[in-house]
Amino acid sequence: MKSTKEKIINILIDNKDKYISGESISEKLEVSRASVWKHIKNLEKEGYQIESKTSQGYKLIGRTDTANPSYEISHRLKTSFMGQRVDYFKTIDSTNIQANKIASQSPEGTVVLADEQTKGKGRIGRTWVSEQNKGLYFSTILKPDIALMQAPFITQLVAASLTKTFLDLGIEISIKWPNDLIYKGKKVAGILTEMSAEIDHISYIIVGIGINLYKKDFEDEIKDKATSFANEGIEIDRIEFLRKFFPNFEDLYEKFKAGDKRECLDILRSRSAVLGREVYKIKEGERVKVFARDIDDMGNLIVEHESGQVETVFTGEISI
Ligand code: BTN
Repeated sequence: MKSTKEKIINILIDNKDKYISGESISEKLEVSRASVWKHIKNLEKEGYQIESKTSQGYKLIGRTDTANPSYEISHRLKTSFMGQRVDYFKTIDSTNIQANKIASQSPEGTVVLADEQTKGKGRIGRTWVSEQNKGLYFSTILKPDIALMQAPFITQLVAASLTKTFLDLGIEISIKWPNDLIYKGKKVAGILTEMSAEIDHISYIIVGIGINLYKKDFEDEIKDKATSFANEGIEIDRIEFLRKFFPNFEDLYEKFKAGDKRECLDILRSRSAVLGREVYKIKEGERVKVFARDIDDMGNLIVEHESGQVETVFTGEISI
């Protein structure tokens, strides 16, 4: 159920660049004109730039960085559940931690988004540095009715959906199995998938995504391995990106649940940064040189050792 404030900002977004009278908003929402005025003032305080003219009404002209982006992300979003609810935080420990807290009581597709994370989590117990206005940090709650053994494919599904969205924007992205997105040879995004399950039943899955969107100084040790889109001269608006990503993700997710992984596997194989190359498989600190042969239908990596032995890699890390 949307709040009156959210309904008002939605009306202003629909009528962007033209005036809409306080009277017509109050009639539409069946609230007093004083209440409309009060909500407009609150929206202005939040960072929406709204022009008021006595004879004409209100006009949305823009927003500052402090404005809550969740209204614009979800409004008229072309999905049936993904991203329909966005819980936005200026700062939080981790969007994955918050999504875990609310998952049982929240509908599938609920998103937790933050400007900054103080305890951002990466894979394998690492930290994901998440300073304010350096990246896009969000988590999505999924509740798929699938067998437990299918769950690891979710990370692949997200990697493929992100890649498809970047390609739609004309940005050449590749995927370093299992969870890194690569631009010009350097990591620009990572995925952290966490699951809450009983012995034979998935309660929910949290998919956390971190994308280096904005200008960022990387520490010396990772300078050669990581970059951000802004550092590479590419401007991406996070609201526009999410409004493109959620429909792509929902579409591939629905197909996957219906047993159709073809498009996803096509993207994983054709945009892979590892297939057809000699890479290093890293497990428990050990680096082993292997040839990356294929990605199987379960999303596992098939590698060939120098001895000729073929191995299916289910999880772990690959270095290129
Ligand atoms: C990795 O490459 O190690 C995965 C990084 C995942 C980072 C994202 S940012 C949003 C979400 N919340 C977290 O604490 N982590 C994920």
